[in-house]
Amino acid sequence: MIRAVTIKDLVGVDIRGYHLNRLIGTGSYGAVYEASSGSERIAVKASIRSSDVLNEAVALQRLFYCEFTPKYFFHEETPTQNGILHTIGQELLGADLESIRQRVPWHAIKRPTLVRIAWQAISCLQAVHSYNLVHRDVKLGNFAVSLPTSPNHRVTIKIFDLGLAHHYKDDDGNLIDDSTNPKFNVMKYCSFEVAMGCEPMPKDDLHQLSYAILYASGYDFLQKMKSPPDELIAWKREMLREPSKTLPPLARFLTPWFEALSELNDIVPIDYENLKQKIQQSLPAHNASADLYMEMLDGEPTLV
Ligand SMILES: Nc1ncnc2c1ncn2[C@@H]1O[C@H](COP(=O)(O)OP(=O)(O)O)[C@@H](O)[C@H]1O
Ligand SMILES: [Mg+2]
Repeated sequence: MIRAVTIKDLVGVDIRGYHLNRLIGTGSYGAVYEASSGSERIAVKASIRSSDVLNEAVALQRLFYCEFTPKYFFHEETPTQNGILHTIGQELLGADLESIRQRVPWHAIKRPTLVRIAWQAISCLQAVHSYNLVHRDVKLGNFAVSLPTSPNHRVTIKIFDLGLAHHYKDDDGNLIDDSTNPKFNVMKYCSFEVAMGCEPMPKDDLHQLSYAILYASGYDFLQKMKSPPDELIAWKREMLREPSKTLPPLARFLTPWFEALSELNDIVPIDYENLKQKIQQSLPAHNASADLYMEMLDGEPTLV
């Protein structure tokens, strides 16, 4: 029996032979630890919300062969003094993109890096959608770089936190209802159509990604999200209707991509390759499909 007081006090505990070494992240309902067994290092996500953990475990198992999401190791239920502790063992990733944004000067990721991130993030969503899953919680904090591979420290972008993911259609293309009926329209960073009451669909993941990229470009999206609800919805609508005029000047170079995003709907299959080409067109002098690296610059690990 584990005698931990809270979900954030699990350092030293062993789960499935993995020793929890260090707290690496916390969310509203859980905590993520770096854990090891011999020389193997993994991430263990612990939560008190069993429904989200179960949902995430099912989604990660479905994505087992996907290279754009963390590898799934196990799901465990451990009795504790305070009830059942739910944990998921998964591939250990590096820094999440929100932490990376916070570390760069002016909180603005440089354009050549930004377009590479956008390119790979589109690939992440393309992969998740190809498993008939919709992520529904797309934001910088839910993308991370992989652990750098030696010797050149190359990294790839992966999407994680599938606690709100939904298996939205079967293999015949019939839509599957979400019986838990979550309220996505109250999520500040939801897409325009979701704010209007529609169920989140793959195109809405991409619209959320466009906000995340805007935020990573240096735009104060947190401030925008504080505007009155009507104003925020109007801004999201204008972003679809007239992106070239609505985008902040520093992000206007992304207009081709935002225009392509505004044409997406739930009926025509999404052309992900076209969306990636629009990213490339936004910054023609740089190769948006080039690899990303974690380099030491001024003593700080920096994504380039
Ligand atoms: N597989 C992982 N490897 C490394 N860090 C992770 C991993 N999963 C989550 N984290 C860290 O923990 C934080 C919270 O995890 P997340 O899965 O997003 O949970 P929540 O549902 O609470 O948002 C993330 O922002 C990230 O910093
Ligand atoms: Mg998260």
